[in-house]
Amino acid sequence: MGDTDFHAGKVQQMYDNRRKLYEIGWEKGDHQSIHCGLYDETEHGTNDPFENMIRRLSNTAEVDAGTRVLDIGCGGGDDAVWNARHRDATVVGVDIDDEFLEAAADNAASAGVTDQVSFRNDDFHELASVNDRTYDVVWGLEAIGHSANKSRVFERCRQVLDDGGRLAIGDLFARSDTPVDDAGRRIDILENSMCVRIDTVEKIETALADAGFENIEILDITEAVKPGLKKSYLSSLFMYPLSSLLRRLGRATDSVVGFYRGSYHMYKLLSKGALGYYFVTADRA
Ligand SMILES: C[S@@+](CC[C@H](N)C(=O)[O-])C[C@H]1O[C@@H](n2cnc3c(N)ncnc32)[C@H](O)[C@@H]1O
Repeated sequence: MGDTDFHAGKVQQMYDNRRKLYEIGWEKGDHQSIHCGLYDETEHGTNDPFENMIRRLSNTAEVDAGTRVLDIGCGGGDDAVWNARHRDATVVGVDIDDEFLEAAADNAASAGVTDQVSFRNDDFHELASVNDRTYDVVWGLEAIGHSANKSRVFERCRQVLDDGGRLAIGDLFARSDTPVDDAGRRIDILENSMCVRIDTVEKIETALADAGFENIEILDITEAVKPGLKKSYLSSLFMYPLSSLLRRLGRATDSVVGFYRGSYHMYKLLSKGALGYYFVTADRA
């Protein structure tokens, strides 16, 4: 078993252990997103920060009527459904989590877009179910962070993109190789608790160029994402000690404690400038 397979297994287990937390968030927020909110005054049309994030990435990726989108790490399907409903795109979402895929299919059915959207199980390192040169946009919102081998994902993304196609991702990356204060320790904690591998923006840029992408553009939207992550941080100040206590009493799992611990360090890293939130777009060369 390769490193990527091993990591994908751990990712799946993490989502399985925390499913209840996500479902509660979905119910409270009346959505099925598993990404950060975008708090941006210039984004009109909705007050929903989760939808703002999708709209803004869709604008950046230039998704339009008829655009063929492959959504890698589609989760509960909100990104795919939004691009079908609001941009008239056709979208295939892939994920390794069957329960998310089921929720995504229900999401598309409720939105009445099943003729434009479908979902299936596939690992984004492999994209075994996807033919080469069949997509205009490969979309990945907070998914690729779970990869321990992003070069491999980019290579495969390039192969499935048609001529003129582009990749559009939104995710957290480290700002530079030089750790600020205790950033190295916090990044280790974040990687373990959220099952992610935090690469630097520079490394992502190099990996994209090596995989055959050009016109690589990197947009730093950290400030617009901070308010939502601050909320999670503030809640972690209470929930981290509480869940730790509950774990000692056998009433909470390590994974749930890890979620709050990760949220705490994520915001600390963001405020210290060691971590940033970026949109990255690149054209198939
Ligand atoms: C943070 S969620 C984001 C979901 C969705 N993009 C959104 O914006 O709501 C990350 C998703 O990536 C999926 N994922 C992680 N590793 C994957 C892999 N190797 N192949 C496919 N999907 C993966 C997870 O199962 C999860 O659904």
